[in-house]
Amino acid sequence: MTFKRLADIDVRGKRVFIRADLNVPQDAAGNVTDDTRIRASLPAIQDALARGAAVMVTSHLGRPSEGKLVPADSLAPIGVRLGELLGQPVRLVTDWVDGGEWLRALAPGEVVLLENCRGNVGEKKDSDELARKMAKLCDVYVNDAFGTAHRAEATTHGIARHAPIACAGPLMAAELDALGRALAAPRRPLVAIVAGAKVSTKLTILRSLLARVDTLLVGGGIANTFILAAGGKIGSSLAEGELVDEAKAILAEFPGKIPLPIDAVTAKEFKATAAPTLKAIEDIAPDDLILDLGPTSVAALRMILARAGTIVWNGPIGVFEWDAFAEGTKAIGEAIAASPAFSLAGGGDTIAAIAKFGLADRIGYISTGGGAFLEFLEGKTLPAVAMLERRGSE
Ligand code: 3PG
Repeated sequence: MTFKRLADIDVRGKRVFIRADLNVPQDAAGNVTDDTRIRASLPAIQDALARGAAVMVTSHLGRPSEGKLVPADSLAPIGVRLGELLGQPVRLVTDWVDGGEWLRALAPGEVVLLENCRGNVGEKKDSDELARKMAKLCDVYVNDAFGTAHRAEATTHGIARHAPIACAGPLMAAELDALGRALAAPRRPLVAIVAGAKVSTKLTILRSLLARVDTLLVGGGIANTFILAAGGKIGSSLAEGELVDEAKAILAEFPGKIPLPIDAVTAKEFKATAAPTLKAIEDIAPDDLILDLGPTSVAALRMILARAGTIVWNGPIGVFEWDAFAEGTKAIGEAIAASPAFSLAGGGDTIAAIAKFGLADRIGYISTGGGAFLEFLEGKTLPAVAMLERRGSE
C-alpha cells in the first residue's frame, strides 16, 4: 500500500491533527474500563510531540447526535486517562472546528484533545464544508484510527482530502501491514477461523476468505449451519435454516476446505450451570444444544493449526464465557499461540477470549478494529485507507 507515514514527515514546529480511535468501553460512571485503544494510540502522539509538533487529537466516542452532545458523550474521561499515560496534561477543547484562541495558544510539545468529533454537524455524512474547516487547523493530518477506517466521515476521510499533508499514523500502518501480511502475501498454508453466531453476518467474509485460504475452520452457530448442510445433526442448536442451501453451495464449491466438527459438548439448556455432555455429531438428540467443540474435533483442528504458515482468527468457537463450555475455544486459542504461524486476531469476542485465556503475548498481531477488521477480511476497500493511498500517490 502506498501511503505516507507519520515517521517520514518532518513535523517540527508544525500543527499535527491526529484522528485516533479512542472509542473505548466505559462503566455507568463514565470510567474507562478497557484502555487498549488509548494505549495503542500513544505512539503517534508521543512521536509527534517528541519531534516538536503542536498536537491535536480527536476521536469519536459512541454514536451521539450531531450538534447535541450530552455529558455522557464527552471525551473528558478519555482525556484524563490519556494524560496519565502520556505523563503530561491533556486539555479538552470544545467547539474547536473554527479554531480561535485554543489554536493560537497551542505550542510545540503540547497536546489538546478535541471533543467528540461526532458532535460536529456533518461529521457522519463526510461534509466537505466541515472537512475543509478542520483541514485548516493543521499542517499535517494523521489518520491513526484503524478502528474507524471503514467509515467515510469528515475526520476519517474528507479532511484527508484537504489537509496540506495526509499520512497514516503508526497504529494504522501496523494494522495494515499485519492484515496485508496475513492476507495479501501469506506464508502458506493460510488457515482462517471464522466463528460466531450467524452465517448471515459473515457470509461475505466466508466467501472472500475461502477464495484465499487453504483451510477454513468454522465454529459456533456458523459451524452448526454447515453441519446441517452436510447432513449432520445439531438438535436445537442455534443455526440459520434459510442459509443451509447457501452453506451447501459453499461446501460444494470448496470441497475439502472446510473440515466440520465430528463431536461436540452439548447441554439441554442454554445456561452457564447446564450439565455438559460430550456427544458425537451423529448422536445429537433433538433437544441437545451444541455449546462447544468436542475433543476429537479440537484435536483435528490443532493439527491443522500446528502446520499453518499464517492464521487469521475471528470468533470464539464455543460459549467460552461459561467454564463448562470454554475448553474448545481455549484449546484452539492455545494451539494458535503455540503454532509457528504468523497469527492475526480481531473482533470484540475474540479479543475477550484471548484476554480470558492469557494468550495476548503469543498472538502475532491483535487488531484494534472491530467492524474495520471484518470489512478488511471481507475484501472491502476501507474508505479512510483509500483516501490515504490517494494522497500518498500525489
Ligand atoms: C468500533 O468500535 O468498532 C469503532 O470505534 C467504530 O465505531 P462505529 O461502529 O460507531 O463507527
